[in-house]
Amino acid sequence: MSARGVFVTFEGIEGSGKTTQARRLSARLLTKSVSHIVTREPGGTPLADQLRSILLAPREETVFPETELLLYQAARAQHVRGLLLPALEDGKAVLCDRFYDATFAYQAHARGLEAETVGMLNRFASGDLVPDLTLLFDLPPELGISRASRRGAADRIERESLDFHRAVRNGYLAIYKNDTSRIVLIDASAPEEEVFRKLQETVTERFGW
Ligand code: TMP
Repeated sequence: MSARGVFVTFEGIEGSGKTTQARRLSARLLTKSVSHIVTREPGGTPLADQLRSILLAPREETVFPETELLLYQAARAQHVRGLLLPALEDGKAVLCDRFYDATFAYQAHARGLEAETVGMLNRFASGDLVPDLTLLFDLPPELGISRASRRGAADRIERESLDFHRAVRNGYLAIYKNDTSRIVLIDASAPEEEVFRKLQETVTERFGW
């Protein structure tokens, strides 16, 4: 039986470049023949991808924070059991674009839901799966939003106010301060190449990648 795979999550506000960096790391792992998958939340299985579409579609009807929280957790419950755990048990590394820290930053810090409730549901949905490493790509929300707006039509969350995105960033920074051994903070306002260099240094040191 192969050893359990390494679980790495990528976090940050909109436009932080985390998706690009995850793809770049994947390309590097391919050259090193490190068996891995790249996935994202919400999403990663057909049902979780449908929940993603529901969550991100702009709509007239108010989406209450409680509803939003439960939909993100439903997608996570499916993703963890349907894709993440089987891949990790198979010895594959998993690069995951967002995981439960996003729920603390968005639904607790920015939407204002109780951190305790969010934490309890995070543990329930993730089945106590904890990332081995979380890369937090940090940058001012003004910069992130302007980068994200170049990608085309904004989704329901990207349309939120600058204050909302500031709260998300502060939420992430608070989570980081509480867990500096699991989470590595990366200055994402630096050029893409420099950001990737820092990422590479970190994963080489931790996992020999
Ligand atoms: P993405 O566009 O970076 O893939 O993320 C999807 C959006 O969903 C992004 O705006 C962040 C948000 N989100 C939450 O609000 N809570 C969560 O638990 C997750 C995983 C994402």
